Amino acid sequence: MSDRKQVRLFRTLIFNVLLRYRLYTMKLPQQVNVLLLGSGGREHAMAWKISRSERIAKLYIAPGNAGTSQCGVNVDIAPTNFAGLKQFVLSSHINLVVVGPEEPLVKGVQDFFAGDAEIRYIPVVGPSAEGARLEGSKQFAKDFMTRHGIPTAKYRSFSKENIGEAADFMRTLKPPYVLKANGLAAGKGVLIINDFDEAVSELEAMIDGKFGTAGNKVVIEEYLSGIELSVFVATDGTGYKILPEAKDYKRIGDGDTGLNTGGMGAVSPVPFADAEFLSKVEERIVKPTIEGLRAENITYKGFLFIGLMNVDGDPYVIEYNVRMGDPETEVVMPRIESDIIDLFEGIVYDTLKDKELQVSPKTAVTVMTVSGGYPGDYEKGKVIEGLQGVGGRSILFHAGTAQNGGDIVTSGGRVISVTSLGDSIEEAAAKSYDTVKSFSFEGMNYRNDIGKDLTKQSKETVKKAAKSPSRKSTTAKTPTAKTSSRSTKKSAEK
Ligand code: AMP
Ligand code: GLY
Repeated sequence: MSDRKQVRLFRTLIFNVLLRYRLYTMKLPQQVNVLLLGSGGREHAMAWKISRSERIAKLYIAPGNAGTSQCGVNVDIAPTNFAGLKQFVLSSHINLVVVGPEEPLVKGVQDFFAGDAEIRYIPVVGPSAEGARLEGSKQFAKDFMTRHGIPTAKYRSFSKENIGEAADFMRTLKPPYVLKANGLAAGKGVLIINDFDEAVSELEAMIDGKFGTAGNKVVIEEYLSGIELSVFVATDGTGYKILPEAKDYKRIGDGDTGLNTGGMGAVSPVPFADAEFLSKVEERIVKPTIEGLRAENITYKGFLFIGLMNVDGDPYVIEYNVRMGDPETEVVMPRIESDIIDLFEGIVYDTLKDKELQVSPKTAVTVMTVSGGYPGDYEKGKVIEGLQGVGGRSILFHAGTAQNGGDIVTSGGRVISVTSLGDSIEEAAAKSYDTVKSFSFEGMNYRNDIGKDLTKQSKETVKKAAKSPSRKSTTAKTPTAKTSSRSTKKSAEK
């Protein structure tokens, strides 16, 4: 190595050590003004938790919903209006920005703050745009997993240039075929198709623009059969804490039937995610992911949501999301007992390893109430009756709601998620279903079986079910429908 190169390397090393030391000695003020970005049930659950911190001075939510306004002050700024956010954080003396949804992250909100001399001192909980590619580009995520030896389904990506090779690749896979638009496609970009010819023609339609530019590149991957689990990690880029895991219920109908939604309910903890399985997740997935991000110099200070499949007792990554899940956050936040602002401080100032994460041993179950017609077309503006009568039995997390004069009205597909804690799934679910019955709006719909698959089956039978591809009761898409597509996750939230 030349002398000049050695000097440069030494300088970089010193710079990194000094930067780390500086971050390590930095803290948020004791009382913190927080700006939270987003407007769904996930953000209400985060706002609820932040508002319970002893360190919160003022909490603002941009733009928020009728529920978040019970925890702080809603401000009418879109999370992707970076110039508007800058003006607001300066005028309101914000000390910390927490990003709920993926869109502002993929569009670079963290980089915007870090790159602007006037606001670079305000830390952001959320990865850089480069880190957000783990969610923003399926191909980037899959290539990243390959580079770091992280277990995931076999895949190849295709575009106009190499579409001719797709059929040959598909012949190496067993049906059904999993087709994923490369970019963010408002939650609709995944198709699972049984029939070979249909899969080929769908691939052509995707590359021709069925999902806009998101589908110009398509990842085709092997179908994994098993039970899905959502694992959440908070990281400062080096250290990490694994948050409570959760199981999401994605289909609209009882017994996992019908179209996919953004999520109809969730349970935490998940009985089949025992210590042995979770340690495989940590060793094979969490550690290599964090180490991979660091090795590639990708700034990642925020939450990482690992959607995984339990295949014969082994975890495989289905997807990364660079944010918390919805409705999983509605069961994760109520189980976190430690102070959330302390946790945020650890994330943004590289001190996560010194923070304590206390988790309640209770079980949380959330049931999502949705508008009639969702996940297809639905009407908005329905008055929600009976909210005053809801006692302390459950926590109501608003997703698509708005204040209209004295009324709270529906403003989205997913409307209110009802979370309860209990000593068992049965107890928590019974409380949530009791509460669901105490309010209503025209067309209100919900699943009646949240958590039932986990209570019916003992841990052993769930394990066995994960081994058998013909089992029925899981959230994994079974190839019953000829073409099943993930439907309007985003419209669910709006
Ligand atoms: P994604 O957007 O990658 O999360 O995919 C949406 C949903 O499709 C997942 O939550 C799974 O239910 C299903 N899915 C995605 N990839 C696969 C796969 N390789 N095998 C089986 N199911 C999958
Ligand atoms: N509940 C799944 C998600 O947030 O993407």
